[in-house]
Amino acid sequence: MTARTHARDSRSTTHCIAVIGAGYVGLPTAATLAHFGHRVVLAEREEKRLAALRSGRMPIVEAGLDDLVAGGVAAGNLSFSASAIEAVVGADFVFLCVPTPQGADGSADLSYVEAAAKEIGPHLEAGTIVVNKSTVPVGSATMVEQVIGRPDIRVVSNPEFLREGTAVVDSLHPDRIVVGADDSQAAARVGELFSSTGAPLIVTDATTSETIKYSSNAFLATKLSFVNALAAVCEEVGADVRDVMLGLGYDKRIGFDFLRPGPGWGGSCLPKDTRALLHIAQEAGYDFSLLAGAIASNEQQLARVLSKVEVACGGSVDGVTVGAWGLTFKANTDDRRDSPSLQITQRLLALGATVQAFDPTVPVAPGGEMGAELVPEDLSGLSLRADPYEAASGASAIVVLTEWDEFRWLDFRRLLGVMAQPSIVDARNLLDPAAVRRLGFTYAGIGRQ
Ligand code: NAD
Ligand code: UGA
Repeated sequence: MTARTHARDSRSTTHCIAVIGAGYVGLPTAATLAHFGHRVVLAEREEKRLAALRSGRMPIVEAGLDDLVAGGVAAGNLSFSASAIEAVVGADFVFLCVPTPQGADGSADLSYVEAAAKEIGPHLEAGTIVVNKSTVPVGSATMVEQVIGRPDIRVVSNPEFLREGTAVVDSLHPDRIVVGADDSQAAARVGELFSSTGAPLIVTDATTSETIKYSSNAFLATKLSFVNALAAVCEEVGADVRDVMLGLGYDKRIGFDFLRPGPGWGGSCLPKDTRALLHIAQEAGYDFSLLAGAIASNEQQLARVLSKVEVACGGSVDGVTVGAWGLTFKANTDDRRDSPSLQITQRLLALGATVQAFDPTVPVAPGGEMGAELVPEDLSGLSLRADPYEAASGASAIVVLTEWDEFRWLDFRRLLGVMAQPSIVDARNLLDPAAVRRLGFTYAGIGRQ
């Protein structure tokens, strides 16, 4: 497919839009805007990603994304380009969806945003609105405006709240749309692009909009740290954390969402965004000890899971084989960035364990390991297996790290036959303790007996 540039029609409610960056945010965003009837050119500079998209394959695992993208392409509303410069020609709106990884001091690294702004600046049509959809700190809308350096270009903050694994549903049916700019008309115009979602629209200034995004992720992370800490208390006093959460969840002010204890929160955003907010607060002279505590508590959670595995293996994992189920940071995604599951396997390796790992998104030939040249760097040292049974073979313990639904429905009698010792550490509370104990396994969950 050839890239198409935009023909401008300022009277139309159908707009020409460029999206820069075809990642976990840019790709669903582009496909959603195309689904709403806008004409979208999605620019991606990574050749492999672009080639996959052009041949109709999705470069990421995301339910429903293939259909949404195919629909946009078939309608002639979505096309792809290797060049951000080519994509922005004739565009009314340009969405920046490039990475903002954690910098060395904990602050957000804005180099991709800055580079993209510099690249497209001279090629924008007069009146184009540039939209910061990447998660960026306070002051970034102004920074992008300054980098572009043109009085005829406005920059609007429009943070994204989608979750990986449910990105399509979240994009089509968002809880809210937040837009912020010093030019409220420009902000409202960005809000209108999403009017068919029917979601509440918050129009505010850029600083407030940028603060909303970090606050949201930091609040979610703090909620999880509270839940995981409470699970530790439940273990000590003999309470069942799942019932405690049920009791909490029925309180409408608390709600049921985001109350599942686990191995610690991770992924490409919660860890970096909590640290970025901590950095923003520090720079502003506020000691955000509550948030620092939530981050420290998350570290403790990882260590607690690790020590459960050690206990399951008789006190030490040195020289012991451990089966690890799940490597992604949560189920229904292929993303392993800042994955607690992966961090735990790496710590087990450092403690001298042999780790036989299985994840449904890491393809391995049955009976054989991945060819060395194919093993991604973050998986080096792991003995990758084709299925959960192979991962458990000869192991002294299995640790359930990612909540893939398929782990619930395995033949646990068959597992008994392949393991050196029948022991399960369930860091996601995925399994039924009574059922596996009846079969002869020892079982350790999180926050329950
Ligand atoms: P990603 O790494 O998956 O995707 C970014 C893409 O941008 C990459 O494919 C990269 O090659 C491309 N890119 C970088 N510079 C480019 C340029 N100049 N021209 C063309 N392509 C370019 O990142 P992501 O997970 O989509 O995150 C993007 C931003 O969205 C980050 O700020 C992140 O914090 C934020 N965010 C992410 C999520 C999520 O669930 N992943 C949710 C909300 C917000
Ligand atoms: C998170 C936010 O939920 C999104 O709103 C936000 O847009 C996104 O970050 C972002 O800014 O990138 P995501 O990273 O996809 O989304 O993942 P979550 O579903 O929030 O899970 C984050 C971590 O918390 C995972 O490690 C997950 O396993 C863990 N988690 C989540 C739990 O341990 N228990 C829960 O009940 C929920």
